[in-house]
Amino acid sequence: MLVLGIESSCDETACAIVRNGNEILSNIIASQAELHEAYGGVVPEIASRQHAEVIIPVIDQALKEAGVTLDDIDLIAVAHAPGLIGALLVGLNAAKALSLALNIPFVAVNHVEAHLYAAVMSHDKEHAFPCLGAVFSGGHTALVLMRSFSDYTVVAKTVDDAIGEAFDKVAKAIGLPYPGGPLIEKLAREGNPKAHPLKAGRIKERPHDFSYSGLKTGVLYTLKGQNMSAPLPVQLTHSAMCDIAASFQHTAFTDLVDKTVASARRNGCSTILFGGGVTNNMRLREMFASVAPDLDLVWPSAGLSLDNAAMIAGLGFHQYKAKNRGDPLDIEALPTLLF
Ligand code: KG4
Ligand code: ZN
Repeated sequence: MLVLGIESSCDETACAIVRNGNEILSNIIASQAELHEAYGGVVPEIASRQHAEVIIPVIDQALKEAGVTLDDIDLIAVAHAPGLIGALLVGLNAAKALSLALNIPFVAVNHVEAHLYAAVMSHDKEHAFPCLGAVFSGGHTALVLMRSFSDYTVVAKTVDDAIGEAFDKVAKAIGLPYPGGPLIEKLAREGNPKAHPLKAGRIKERPHDFSYSGLKTGVLYTLKGQNMSAPLPVQLTHSAMCDIAASFQHTAFTDLVDKTVASARRNGCSTILFGGGVTNNMRLREMFASVAPDLDLVWPSAGLSLDNAAMIAGLGFHQYKAKNRGDPLDIEALPTLLF
């Protein structure tokens, strides 16, 4: 079964052609990062307009690279939630239009769930349930207990900023462009992680949840002293930037790794499936490997960790197989659906 996947939930317009859920024939990602760089984050209106402009060329390119035509496609899969509403609508309406015009079914997929499926697609092996799914991205920080691919319970999430969002905000504060995560990782390699004493959030009544907003404020105090009205970005020497990056990353990841591994053990999971852009960070992978050498740590391969449409097509295939029908044309885009 040949599936055409579409992803447009944030600042990547993506289309992929995937056979039978895991054979990727093409995986095209048109990033808008450059358009949003100057603003230090994604501007929703700019994102929607750019999706509308490039979605047809991106679909064409995915078909061409896969060596197929629209007539070969059996199913359309599209991310319909969660994300920026105007951005999601572009992909969802393109999918509905294709489904109508080609007279083939379409399925609407949860973007966060697809991030977890990306880890599964990346490896040719079976995973023992229950697994812990860990999504670390610009929009989400969530741990889900997965009893199967359709049975999820959220066991922890962030109460404020997502982990990737915290990386992007700290990067902005020291004058780095969006997205800041990869740049912070690079600077952190040269810095001293113990240079600045910082703390990640712990919420008394919700000890398993995450909170990164206070950590970000801690970085701001470190940068500005007590004079919080000083303008941003703060000008720093290269080595001062490296120390801030290393201290922030070390604090954030120690919290992320400890709570995630504790959740896996508490819920009887010997496997963790990882998804989302922050899982690209090599230091994060090293820290998990050293804290939990006994767990099966399943990371997405390159091209499948950041937002992409191959994961949407892959999960869409299984959803269609499970219910043996497509979704109705009046299904809506939803900005805030977790599971
Ligand atoms: O999964 P993704 O493409 O988009 C969302 O669904 O949000 O993740 C993007 C996020 C951004 O916040 C970016 O800064 C972060 O992932 N990111 C990283 C790294 N690469 C991307 N964060 C830390 N280290 C990295 N190497
Ligand atoms: Zn994502």
